[in-house]
Amino acid sequence: MTGPLILAIESSCDETGIALVEGGRRIHANVVASQVALHAPTGGIVPEVAARAHLRWILPVLDEALADAGATVADVDAVAVTHGPGLAGSLLVGINTAKTIAWVHGKPLVAVNHLEGHVYAAWLLDPAQDEVSEPLFPLVALVVSGGHTFLVEMHDHLEYRLLGQTVDDAAGEAFDKVGRLLGLGYPGGPEIQRAASGAVNHDAAFPRAWLGDSFDFSFSGLKTAARRIVDAERAEAGIAGDPEAHLPEPRVAELAWGFQDSVTDVLVAKTIRAARATGARSIVLGGGVAANAVLRDRLLAEATGLGVPVIIPRPGLCTDNGAMIGAAAARRLAAGERAGLDLDARPSLPLASQ
Ligand code: KG4
Ligand code: ZN
Repeated sequence: MTGPLILAIESSCDETGIALVEGGRRIHANVVASQVALHAPTGGIVPEVAARAHLRWILPVLDEALADAGATVADVDAVAVTHGPGLAGSLLVGINTAKTIAWVHGKPLVAVNHLEGHVYAAWLLDPAQDEVSEPLFPLVALVVSGGHTFLVEMHDHLEYRLLGQTVDDAAGEAFDKVGRLLGLGYPGGPEIQRAASGAVNHDAAFPRAWLGDSFDFSFSGLKTAARRIVDAERAEAGIAGDPEAHLPEPRVAELAWGFQDSVTDVLVAKTIRAARATGARSIVLGGGVAANAVLRDRLLAEATGLGVPVIIPRPGLCTDNGAMIGAAAARRLAAGERAGLDLDARPSLPLASQ
């Protein structure tokens, strides 16, 4: 494969990610310094703590990525960075690093939207992976992360038509909140998946917010339903006033299963319906929640009936990383886009408008 070698930096939330990606597809290096352990005691991200951790780790991560790729900054054709959406302080660290590298080495600078990075993860190939065909247009992409949940239609590169989005919580946020409610660790997504896999009874019934024919999503009712069930069962067990006490493990597993079943049911059904309605030739899944095994399996199974290929990056490429930014950046570079050295963080940058 040929194509520009891009040094890509992602620091929008709580992962410091730096990658080298060739031709928008082939990963040469992809290093991620996770802050999960740092944020676990608070059960959520404290923005200033996240920004300081990026500052601490960004240059060591850069060194490691260059060493993994056997490259120097002189070898790269462009520097790409996430400029939004995300936490301002976190974004600033990545942007300032990218600008400095671009300026010192005279390289073009490319600004990437974090959300399109999650979509473009579907184009990535691991270093030793056999080449596979690219996702075909038109496609529908479901992005489910800690901060965002939306369905878009794409007829070509970098063209996004928003089909629907969450009207309240993001899917990952719901996983994290319900995980906390059930006394599971942080972040809640992987913990709920783990707990749910141990459920013996598969009959915990949680509501589904279909919102009529729309492609929008809502998870706050589900969260409230989970809280009601947990509060009632804690009161019954006589542990209502004790934050250290939790429901018995088998019951937590059943509730985790019921919650996960509801979320994945709605996500998969709407994505399949969107693919059918738009005549999609491929379906792409991305974002941290796309690491969920039940969601992945269900979407793959449901799409078989439709005859539309589903592209889901391996879990490590679904959660935040630099390679996905490099994949999207290659398209922006090819389109002639260049960011100036006055590039600023855009914490509320939207992906597409309806
Ligand atoms: O995309 P991401 O790494 O960061 C954002 O851009 O938000 O997504 C993080 C979210 C968290 O809410 C986390 O709980 C969720 O992805 N997540 C999962 C799983 N792994 C990560 N949710 C469900 N099942 C998983 N296996
Ligand atoms: Zn993300």
